[in-house]
Amino acid sequence: MVMNPSPLSNRSNVPPFRVMQMLDQVHRRRREGHSIIMLCAGQPATGAPEAVLAEAEIVLRSGPLGYTEVVGDREFREAVAAWHSATYGVQTSADNVIITTGSSGGFMAAFLATLDHGDRVALSVPGYPAYRNILQTLGAEILDLRCTAETRFQPTAQMLEELPEVPKAVIVTSPGNPTGTIIDVEELERIARWCDANGTVLISDEDYHGMSFGRPLATARQFSDNAIVVGTLSKYFSMTGWRVGWIIVPDELVTPIENIQASVSLCAPAIGQAAGKAAFTLEAAAELDAHVEVYREARDIFVDKLPEIGLDTFADPDGGLYLWVDVSKYTDDSEAWAHELLEQAGVAVAPGVDFDPTEGHKWVRLSLCASPADTLEGVRRIGEFLNRVV
Ligand SMILES: Cc1ncc(COP(=O)(O)O)c(C=O)c1O
Repeated sequence: MVMNPSPLSNRSNVPPFRVMQMLDQVHRRRREGHSIIMLCAGQPATGAPEAVLAEAEIVLRSGPLGYTEVVGDREFREAVAAWHSATYGVQTSADNVIITTGSSGGFMAAFLATLDHGDRVALSVPGYPAYRNILQTLGAEILDLRCTAETRFQPTAQMLEELPEVPKAVIVTSPGNPTGTIIDVEELERIARWCDANGTVLISDEDYHGMSFGRPLATARQFSDNAIVVGTLSKYFSMTGWRVGWIIVPDELVTPIENIQASVSLCAPAIGQAAGKAAFTLEAAAELDAHVEVYREARDIFVDKLPEIGLDTFADPDGGLYLWVDVSKYTDDSEAWAHELLEQAGVAVAPGVDFDPTEGHKWVRLSLCASPADTLEGVRRIGEFLNRVV
């Protein structure tokens, strides 16, 4: 009998998520007693809104939490649909909303339902690494949409037009990760129309919606009922660990995704759905909008102070939780640089290679989630570190 030398599949060969490795280092350094300013994490430091916590206490005592319906608790689906309709002035039916385990479960289900091995998917670089990694495991071929400051790090319909082949799907993320830039409403409309005209599935990751510092945010479903919208309680709603997200999908995808989800995860976490309904109330919105003001403050501090310490090239975030900074004046290996910064200055940032496999060695991502005092201290420490190493 011939023994297979390795239990590993080719598809398991996914690159590490370096931000998570950095977080491990932060925990280690803190355990050793070092003071660390965390500018690497992409999660709100705040907890769930009070209204959700109150509801969760009631739900936990009111009976067993079993599986919900596969596509999600009906009341929660209705709450998402009502919020989406009211926010964007569209008619979103709860029948088209599927509740998933974080938005991660949502885009995984959307990929499984729409893509075959070898299908091409266009996505922006820099961009969120999990899309690329999951698509790679599914055997999809990635067509990079190289996004620079020229288009404020967002893709355009013209870029799609110039691709060598028409992709089966396009992913857009606005506000972006790692750049925080928001796609212009007219450009999103052009992209949606291009996708409809070319039979391409548009997947619009709207996870950071609710977090704009002034620029308008549109949902892709304003322009096409064929678009798949991805959303989450993890970001604006400040409920990262509750692991609840959703996808809003065209009619023909509801049953296939239901069948996939039934086999992959049965349903999204019940507690997050039962209590999460309260996240869409006016009371919660007042609390959550106040958090966005704190992110805006962090953004203002960075935009004001980074040039003073020599970091003058960055994407000015329109919203979201991040700022993307060019560190190529100081290093051509942003991963090693980030580790030195952590060891020597006690500041944790996310190395750019996660988000851009070819140019990311020149960039790092800073998070807007720290308090204004920590953000200021982080900038001060980075400045001191740069003075030392230059
Ligand atoms: C752009 C983007 N999409 C999706 C996710 C996944 O979030 P979750 O699964 O917590 O909803 C993240 C997480 O950081 C993200 O940045």
